[in-house]
Amino acid sequence: MKNFYIVDHPLIKKDLTILRDKNTQPEIFRSALHRISNLLAAEISKNIILEQTEVETPLEKTIGYKLKKQIVLVPVLRAGLGMVNGFLELIPDSKVGHIGLQRNEETLEPIEYYFKTPSELEKSDVILLDPMLATGGSASGAITYLKNRGAQTIYFACIVAAPSGVQRINSDHPEVKIYSASLDRELNNKGYILPGLGDAGDRTFGTL
Ligand code: URA
Repeated sequence: MKNFYIVDHPLIKKDLTILRDKNTQPEIFRSALHRISNLLAAEISKNIILEQTEVETPLEKTIGYKLKKQIVLVPVLRAGLGMVNGFLELIPDSKVGHIGLQRNEETLEPIEYYFKTPSELEKSDVILLDPMLATGGSASGAITYLKNRGAQTIYFACIVAAPSGVQRINSDHPEVKIYSASLDRELNNKGYILPGLGDAGDRTFGTL
């Protein structure tokens, strides 16, 4: 596995335990997801390139910094929505695009049903958000759509990754850096991650 980073933090480990617990109710699930997303945003944003600027304090002028590139967050509908605010809290001037993908039940490949992103993706750092990296099929499809619309620098942020998902991204999009709170064991025969946390969308929105 390459370009794969597990974000190791005691608070992530504690909150991931809350997410995994089958008895956790949606309200508590959402707040733990939010906090982990916040810490992932802190780690991923270490890659951000700054531009020097000048700032005038009440006393004199000095050096300051601003982001060189626009940050674009792109949650994959629906579960990715639960990660957006955690990222926006740390990078409030981000723009937010959305990708809706569903699986073609015959080919098992993702098909796009909704796509709305800001213009000039080629000049932006794009952070794709999806809590579960399982087979990697929809993540890889989402990255392909972003690239087709010009994106050049893409990060992928997830909460739980399975080895098969990481391998799929590595082989389809070797330059994409993947950040995850955890690397889990495997997928079951329905494509759920083990031990995992169940269906992230259902648990976030209480649609179980
Ligand atoms: N999507 C989920 O929500 N959970 C899994 O375990 C796999 C994919």
